[in-house]
Amino acid sequence: MRRKIIIDTDPGQDDAVAILLALGSPAEIEVLGIVAVAGNVGLKQNARNALKVVELSGRTETPVYAGCERPMRRVLVTAEYVHGKTGLDGPDLPEPQIKLRDQHGVDFIIETLRREPTGTVTLCALGPLTNLGMAFVKAPDIMPRVQEIILMGGGLFEGGNTTPAAEFNIYVDPEAADVVFHSGIPITMVPLDVTHFMLSTKARVERFRGLGNRTGVATAEMLEFFERFDEQKYGWEGGPLHDPCVIAYLLKPELFKGKHVNVAIETQSELTRGMTVVDYWGVTGRAKNATYLRSGDADGFYELLFERLKTLA
Ligand code: BDR
Ligand code: CA
Repeated sequence: MRRKIIIDTDPGQDDAVAILLALGSPAEIEVLGIVAVAGNVGLKQNARNALKVVELSGRTETPVYAGCERPMRRVLVTAEYVHGKTGLDGPDLPEPQIKLRDQHGVDFIIETLRREPTGTVTLCALGPLTNLGMAFVKAPDIMPRVQEIILMGGGLFEGGNTTPAAEFNIYVDPEAADVVFHSGIPITMVPLDVTHFMLSTKARVERFRGLGNRTGVATAEMLEFFERFDEQKYGWEGGPLHDPCVIAYLLKPELFKGKHVNVAIETQSELTRGMTVVDYWGVTGRAKNATYLRSGDADGFYELLFERLKTLA
């Protein structure tokens, strides 16, 4: 069945590829809207990047909204050192012709969930969880209406990428993550334990460049920029392509393996702020609240990306 989704995002080269994967899969996915959040860079620039990516794809009917410009309780931490000054360095994408919708992104999420039949809208979160947390605080009635939340964030076996304990998306807004993990909504979590093995090797980047469309060329240019930082940091032969795993899971869950567990978010400690405390071995007796993906099939994942991105402009 065709899944209706809202993409909440801070694009970001890997967010961009996730958006392209969703827009390139119209038979399975209907993108009701894309909502920008502050994260990799500030809100304004992230929203602009979202417009650029939608325009690149050719699916310009897709509505784009701007959500929250700072985390619920913290000062915003950004990641220009990974994604570049614009948040989407690499390709030279033209100024977008399409415009942001006027409605606030959080209100769009609330209104959409109230309008659509219960259990038919999935929230795909690719950045800090501020917009989702705010929507659930403002309108708790929408929580039982959400079909599923699939989010990129956290880690256990791989540790953190922003601090030794925390992954960026959860680190930036741990209070929002805490709201989400207490929502009672079915959650599937794509952590660093999966994404660190989805490497954009030279050969894969060249496959994107050779797809025969502008989307493929721009994707290759994005990945070439993005992987520089992680190659140096980890010494790997390519950067980990985090966020597209969320959409890939929606399209082909059989590419991933995971387990239903309890996940709690550290909000008190400065040392381990934003740590996802995953009870992978069931030692606490705490109620299970998330499906924690632990591994994925990298070749299958990239084949899916090549196949779907090829269909775009
Ligand atoms: C996450 O942080 C961002 O920089 C990426 O876009 C991804 O969502 C990885 O930790
Ligand atoms: Ca992201």
